Amino acid sequence: MFANLPAAKDDPILSLGLAFKDDPRSDKIDLGIGVYRNEHGATPVMKAVSIAQQRLLDQQTTQAYIGLAGNASYNQAMLGLLLNGTDAFSRAIAMQTPGASGALRLLADLIASAKPNAKVWLSNPSYVNHQPIMQAAGLDVGFYPYFDPVSKQVDEPAMLEQIAKLGPNDVLLLHGCCHNPTGADISFSAWQSITELALKNGFLPFVDLAYQGFGQGLMDDILGLQHLAQQVPELLIASSNSKSFGLYRERSGVAIVVGETLQQATNARGKLFELARRSYTMPPNWGAAIVAEILNDAQLSQQWQQELNQMSQRMRDLRQCLAQEFALQSGSDRFNYLTQHQGMFSLTGFNQLQLEQLREQHAIYIVSGGRINVAGLAKTFIPRLVESCLAVGV
Ligand SMILES: Cc1ncc(COP(=O)(O)O)c(C=O)c1O
Repeated sequence: MFANLPAAKDDPILSLGLAFKDDPRSDKIDLGIGVYRNEHGATPVMKAVSIAQQRLLDQQTTQAYIGLAGNASYNQAMLGLLLNGTDAFSRAIAMQTPGASGALRLLADLIASAKPNAKVWLSNPSYVNHQPIMQAAGLDVGFYPYFDPVSKQVDEPAMLEQIAKLGPNDVLLLHGCCHNPTGADISFSAWQSITELALKNGFLPFVDLAYQGFGQGLMDDILGLQHLAQQVPELLIASSNSKSFGLYRERSGVAIVVGETLQQATNARGKLFELARRSYTMPPNWGAAIVAEILNDAQLSQQWQQELNQMSQRMRDLRQCLAQEFALQSGSDRFNYLTQHQGMFSLTGFNQLQLEQLREQHAIYIVSGGRINVAGLAKTFIPRLVESCLAVGV
């Protein structure tokens, strides 16, 4: 059966993590895998999450199945968090999924069922799993211009020029905030232009929201998404709680479908049930139950938002310190883009040779392509990091 299978290729990000683990040097720095870390290098359980978990354990009476849609109160809370106050709210359904990854795949399958010849447009570059997930669902994939490697910002005119060519057969996948891997987000005015183009030309917007609260704030981070939701007839959202609740391993996400009418969205939910049934059937419970417990309790929700704000503040501080140290040591302001990026990531443009030298000579681990995870830093590492980067000629 398996004789003809080729040997599996290593996952480049995970194998970098393993190489880091095995590196005996005590001053090693890991800027690789996309996980938030505090000043001590730990990814702690948030206090709001610990409280919610304890309550759930105390109240638990059964482990019986819940159902294809998962936890109804979670689904309602996620809909409220993302769409309350927008026109889309009354025409939307939500379905709990195994992470945003599960939502991306389920929604890709939904698109393929509704319109098998649809083409999904991704930013260039995009989250490494977007293309394989869309293609695994049988969808055609194209790329729209996104990142300008010189300014390290979004090339919005080039992006909008391509998006203006999309029509009813196209799906436009956007990052809700804190773009992975670049860290460069589109402006609010670009969200407005995209909304107008979607209304005029009829393509379907699809927003992947994996870092809500890691940029400017919980609600500020979804202003663009909400603008879109206020106006377009149809919209897809895949949202993750891995980062914003620190629930990485619990696989908590949600797929949202906004239809022209609630009936159409409900029909789409029926299709999602069928699609889920033939793969994982039901989503895991625990992470979503924790999120529902937090979002449905005003005090706990406030506690969670405070912790989330502290995390995003730490990332903004680190960006500031890093840019200042680069300016100090290099005498140039060419690293100031670090302060304009949002969330955990920045695409640095460091080349492969520089990345290898950083790893071999300086014990600094950065994924190929040059994406750094700012949250992997402690402030005390910054002078050595900058010195090493400049030593390899960045
Ligand atoms: C842009 C983007 N979308 C989706 C995901 C997947 O998130 P989850 O852990 O919820 O599956 C990630 C995770 O890194 C991501 O960066």
